[in-house]
Amino acid sequence: MPRDEIYSDLELPVQNAPDDRPYVFINMVATIDGKTISSARGEPVEDLGSDFDKVVMRRIEDAADAVLIGAGSQRSSPKITYPPHLIRIVATRSGRLLWGSRFFNDDPSKVVVLCPSTTQLLNAPPGVRVLRAGTDSIDWPLALRKIREELGVRRLLVEGGSDVNGQLLGLDLVNELFLTIAPKVKLGSSTPTYAGAEALPRGEMQNYRLIEEHCVGEEVFLRYRRIR
Ligand SMILES: NC(=O)c1ccc[n+]([C@@H]2O[C@H](COP(=O)([O-])OP(=O)(O)OC[C@H]3O[C@@H](n4cnc5c(N)ncnc54)[C@H](OP(=O)(O)O)[C@@H]3O)[C@@H](O)[C@H]2O)c1
Repeated sequence: MPRDEIYSDLELPVQNAPDDRPYVFINMVATIDGKTISSARGEPVEDLGSDFDKVVMRRIEDAADAVLIGAGSQRSSPKITYPPHLIRIVATRSGRLLWGSRFFNDDPSKVVVLCPSTTQLLNAPPGVRVLRAGTDSIDWPLALRKIREELGVRRLLVEGGSDVNGQLLGLDLVNELFLTIAPKVKLGSSTPTYAGAEALPRGEMQNYRLIEEHCVGEEVFLRYRRIR
């Protein structure tokens, strides 16, 4: 496939999502050894993927109605920007977010803070939209229901980090996985990978079908769909 066409006009079978949540897909870039950071956890990762990986990332974002990231990723990437149409959702328990970043200020009408009911949002800009689900921790099935029903999101792109990805995968709430393999090795037994959380027992390992694969330069672009 010509590189111009990879993930252009991405088709997502949203009808396969249950009525009470959006179609959920994750996109990440990882090293050959599966790590998803290039420096320390909590620092930006712009240098992990190539310029073309960033183009591909934009095409995947173009197919979404909303993007969800964890607060760890939000705090690590003050310069992160999104296509104008995207609703931007950030998950937090601490309420400690980079309020001065582009995430909050490029288009405040598109921003949603997702948190449990006990979270206090200190120093939040006036009028920031807040979605609460759960008491001490985000109740993910309830959060996804609210994202679908209250925000009208049918296609939800999750862009990490490892913590948020792991929780959603652990609850089997994800329909597709996009992965770019960058030709690098990072190492580290505690270095974040595509997804953290608790290991699944052998009998509960999840199966995915490879539905697209593209090799461009030194990178491989993979797309998997959950088989249930
Ligand atoms: N390679 C890639 O494609 C890629 C993509 C994204 C990010 N990254 C990198 O990954 C790192 C961040 O990943 P991470 O795993 O450390 O963090 P993360 O998943 O981005 O965010 C974790 C944070 O999300 C909030 N959170 C998660 N689950 C929650 C729950 N159930 N209830 C309430 N809040 C919840 C908490 O925020 P509070 O701490 O505010 O309570 C938690 O500390 C950064 O270095 C970033 O640059 C890499």
